[in-house]
Amino acid sequence: MKKSVKAFAKQKVNWLFHYRAKSSIKGLLTHESLELQAIGKAIDESLNNLISDEDQSLINSIEDRRSALLSSKEEIPIIDFGAGKPDAGLTSVEMGSGIESHESVAKISKLRSKPAFWAQLMFKIVRKLQPESCVELGTCVGISAAYQASALKLNGKGHLKTIEGSPEISRIAQETVDNLELENTEIITGTFSEKLRDTLESAKPIDFFFNDGHHDHDALLKYFEETVPYLARKAVIIFDDISWSKGMKKAWSKIKNDQRVAATVDLKNIGIALIDNNITKKEQFNIPLLD
Ligand SMILES: C[S@@+](CC[C@H](N)C(=O)[O-])C[C@H]1O[C@@H](n2cnc3c(N)ncnc32)[C@H](O)[C@@H]1O
Repeated sequence: MKKSVKAFAKQKVNWLFHYRAKSSIKGLLTHESLELQAIGKAIDESLNNLISDEDQSLINSIEDRRSALLSSKEEIPIIDFGAGKPDAGLTSVEMGSGIESHESVAKISKLRSKPAFWAQLMFKIVRKLQPESCVELGTCVGISAAYQASALKLNGKGHLKTIEGSPEISRIAQETVDNLELENTEIITGTFSEKLRDTLESAKPIDFFFNDGHHDHDALLKYFEETVPYLARKAVIIFDDISWSKGMKKAWSKIKNDQRVAATVDLKNIGIALIDNNITKKEQFNIPLLD
């Protein structure tokens, strides 16, 4: 009973969010930038549950894999090179050396993987933007990578390079990619500090970049600075968890106002930044959505 009341309330709140988001979405849909139009269409279709049978079939396979991971009994050693909790206040030295522990694959998959709504939104963005070269920071067990790679597979072009610091988590991600037969994906095991530069070099020019690891103010800005020179003339960067901590909010605000960023779409949970020299007037779209 409690559950159904909650689901009903969430549906109503989502409807309200959707209603309020309408004019901002219209602004995206009617924008002269094809990339902003594509992002607007992806958001609109996600909110209206519009999806083709072909796309849905691949999404079902990914969600089957997620379900298998969620019911896994396996425990693995992990090393966390991230920021831990929002208020953990770890130093860069502590994050750099990593914190070792053991965790169940089920718990890792539940707590760290992007929920279906957000992963499907990203899938739609990749389907519409048709990028050639994608890079992801933070593979985890491979759910968001599988969404991006499946979209590329359906596009019939493009490849994904994704970095994961924890070796055993990376092994599970490789199983995800193999299980779904995503030959367009390379999982790179190592910390972002160790692996980012070479990955950027081999993936340039990068059209689509998903930053979903190391939710720390300084780290986010550092990886952004390192990435910008390797981006294509027009590129989309998605930053996850922009409201996760004070530091993440501050870093996102700096990125939003960075001169090299032509337009941003703030969905509260994720932030999308467009790099495009053709847009001379900065545009900021605010469309807060629920998880
Ligand atoms: C939130 S999870 C990624 C979830 C994944 N993108 C998805 O939605 O399916 C973040 C991942 O980044 C990895 N990570 C965090 N900081 C890192 C760093 N500095 N170097 C390498 N990996 C890191 C963690 O081990 C974790 O698996």
